[in-house]
Amino acid sequence: MERTYVMIKPDGVQRNLVGEIISRFEKKGLKIVALKMLQISRELADRHYGEHKGKPFFEPLVQYITSGPVVAMVLEGKDAVTTVRDMMGPTNPLKAAPGTIRGTFGMDIGRNVVHGSDAPESAAREIALFFAPEEIIEYNKNV
Ligand code: CMP
Repeated sequence: MERTYVMIKPDGVQRNLVGEIISRFEKKGLKIVALKMLQISRELADRHYGEHKGKPFFEPLVQYITSGPVVAMVLEGKDAVTTVRDMMGPTNPLKAAPGTIRGTFGMDIGRNVVHGSDAPESAAREIALFFAPEEIIEYNKNV
């Protein structure tokens, strides 16, 4: 089973989309193994978005992601990384197909509602950045 890191960004929280987005992942069959709300510090934002340092959108991105609470989770399932990315749609909501999360709820590349890891390696890095091992719960699901 694969794990991925998913985060409902400040715009998703502000727009009351938390339940809707989590519900989509649950209904799909992904298992929530960790879940919390937090306000991201400047330091954590720097580390999470380190690969974008130096890009023109880096500073606004950090300002935005630290501007209000986010909902962070670890989802588990077969091909969880790709499954979540397909459900989110591409980074730019204007390019995202109707029916995907970003295609349904977004208009702005900088306010694209949700984040999901882009590969299993980045999932492992992001999960470790946001969750202590004891915050990740292993349990069985029979339905
Ligand atoms: P995400 O893939 O979650 O992580 C990087 C974020 O940078 C991305 O979502 C976008 O929300 C944000 N971003 C803002 N402007 C741009 C841009 N011009 N190109 C790519 N990403 C951007």
